[in-house]
Amino acid sequence: MSELMSYWHSNEEQQKILDNFSENTLSNFPMPFGVAPNFIINDQTYCIPMVIEESSVVAAASSAAKFWMDKGGFKTTVLSTKKLGQVHFLWEGDGEKLRYHFPEIKKRLIEECFPITNSMVKRGGGIMDMELISLTDKEPGLYQILASFETCDSMGANFINTCLEQFSKSLTSFFKTSSVFKSDGKVEIIMSILSNYTPECIVRAEVECAVKELGKFPNGMTAEAFARRFQKAIRIAEIDPYRAATHNKGIYNGIDAVVIATGNDFRAIEACGHAYAARDGQYASLSHCTVEDGVFRFWMDLPLAVGTVGGLTALHPIARRSLELLENPDAKSLMCIIAVAGLAQNFSAIRSLVTTGIQQGHMRMHLQNILNQLKATQEEELSAIEHFAHEIVSFTAVREYLENLRLAR
Ligand code: MEV
Repeated sequence: MSELMSYWHSNEEQQKILDNFSENTLSNFPMPFGVAPNFIINDQTYCIPMVIEESSVVAAASSAAKFWMDKGGFKTTVLSTKKLGQVHFLWEGDGEKLRYHFPEIKKRLIEECFPITNSMVKRGGGIMDMELISLTDKEPGLYQILASFETCDSMGANFINTCLEQFSKSLTSFFKTSSVFKSDGKVEIIMSILSNYTPECIVRAEVECAVKELGKFPNGMTAEAFARRFQKAIRIAEIDPYRAATHNKGIYNGIDAVVIATGNDFRAIEACGHAYAARDGQYASLSHCTVEDGVFRFWMDLPLAVGTVGGLTALHPIARRSLELLENPDAKSLMCIIAVAGLAQNFSAIRSLVTTGIQQGHMRMHLQNILNQLKATQEEELSAIEHFAHEIVSFTAVREYLENLRLAR
């Protein structure tokens, strides 16, 4: 218990805030909060906050940032920002009649939701559209109202769910009171909830340079050879779902770290991204690469429903600091920054895989972790790093090396 208590916040007020994010809170669970500097995004420099427990992710992001720094940096474009929500209901009446009267129903649903949407509308958002989808060919009597929303700088989950629950109430009352539908029986609402799949809330992140500008790579690999091998690695992830899962996991190493640091919902972001990666019927790579006419181009279109107001973004003290570090971006700018972190991470992973292999970098970090665990002194660390540059790193090997070193003293 005393160990758990040692992670309580020294300030009672602050601890209360953290306690209230969840239930039955015992303590806080610390994770490293770091930064990846030198990111040039649309000609502006960023130092990106990252929360991640996996060693080498921040180093990989920083290294990709540095690599692209003198090659024009990263470019991003927000392609769309549409969020979605659904009301599913059962209705046994005449489907054609329902379709015919839907514009009238839609008008009423939107009007009766006005007290909820009012302030979002003032900020430039609100309900964008609504359509009726019949699912009766798959399940008798089942319909869906698919509504689209603009939620401005908020992720919008609460706003959307509140609107959807109001739609359900309005729909029920419409069927109760409408003279046209009197003889068609009543509507049964099954559920009302946002969809975390937002294939029209998309940001594009890209890098591009002449192949010869890519420079030199380990073991004398030329820029041309690197570009060709890199492109092939991306192609493998485009055609093989087993590789695609690992490839995209690497992308989410970067994305989740920034999503968590800025107080956003990483489960929602991941669920959406993986659904999007399978949108053509087979799970595939989120990133793409071409090498054409001497130009290397690497990019990714990514669905990202994030917010910079509301939710944890303002409540979590460190999330607030993260947003400050990014100069308080709006939701669109945050989409750009997060997508770049994902692309950078992917670039570094593939660069290692097609040149030295991933273990070289990973093992350096692994060795450092083992040395920390074994409480190695600075002198012992330096000696171990030199020794393990040419040896296989394992916990036992490092422990034995340190024991021998200490005995020899
Ligand atoms: C490890 O966390 C991520 C990688 O496996 C990603 C990849 O293979 O592309 C290195």
